Amino acid sequence: MRIISTERSQVLAARIAAKLGVPLVETKFTRFPDGEMYLRCGELDDETLIVSSTVDNDMFVQTLLLIDAADRSKNTLVAPYLGYSRQDRRFVPGEPISARAVARALSAGTERAFVVNIHDPGVLQHFGVPAKNITIAPAIGGYIGDLHLKNPLILAPDEGAIEFATGVAAVGGWDCDHLEKTRLSGDEVRIAPKTIDAAGREVVIVDDIISTGGTLATAACMLREQGAASIHAACVHGVFTSGAYTRLRAAGIASVVSSDTYENASSFISAANAIATAIRDDAHH
Ligand code: R5P
Repeated sequence: MRIISTERSQVLAARIAAKLGVPLVETKFTRFPDGEMYLRCGELDDETLIVSSTVDNDMFVQTLLLIDAADRSKNTLVAPYLGYSRQDRRFVPGEPISARAVARALSAGTERAFVVNIHDPGVLQHFGVPAKNITIAPAIGGYIGDLHLKNPLILAPDEGAIEFATGVAAVGGWDCDHLEKTRLSGDEVRIAPKTIDAAGREVVIVDDIISTGGTLATAACMLREQGAASIHAACVHGVFTSGAYTRLRAAGIASVVSSDTYENASSFISAANAIATAIRDDAHH
């Protein structure tokens, strides 16, 4: 087996290669004068692991080019962050189910696929090949353990993230709750943990994605008002669009970290171990 990756998943690909003890293959992406992408990759084997978070349209096209370059091998696609997966339904007539469009396109030339903490696992059914969701809740919990917080309270920002937060909290046997929004009046809402008082607690808000940071910034302000001793945030996919990272730090969140499923300077947590384990366990698919 050999591993190739798109430009925005190079670090994660190298880490997975090290964990699996398989060689990385060099890829060189350049552009034709008209802007179209050109790919030349090194020698492949009869089995290829393609690591690519489709974080933008260019990475999506790079993934298609990699799959095609590896047309003589048995391909496994690892798309830790699957772009377009949040448009997973036709919310109003005339819309595409974008997640389905993307999953179908990536299935051609692929034998199996893996994603990491996908927003809605229902998207996996749109792949034309066996597709699995890997959770890195244990890795996020491991990172939180390293922060050496005093009796941390792990909070999911909404009900949808409870399962993920529970998996994170299980690592240290920490308290876990989710935030609940109560409408006080026409223009006033209160956001607070459903059952556990945040006063005096070191709080860690965990989520699958931080995009605009709006969800977490609002929650952080409310938790501070409720007397939280400190507030930290950890997520799987750190998209941090429109200045979200600074928005969160400015909102008083002491640390904001994400994983290498979406590579950036806050990617202190790695999904490599969980991905390598899932691939090894699925080796005889
Ligand atoms: C939503 O259900 C997700 O789990 C995240 O909470 C959401 O995508 C975060 O988005 P934003 O950072 O833009 O508030």
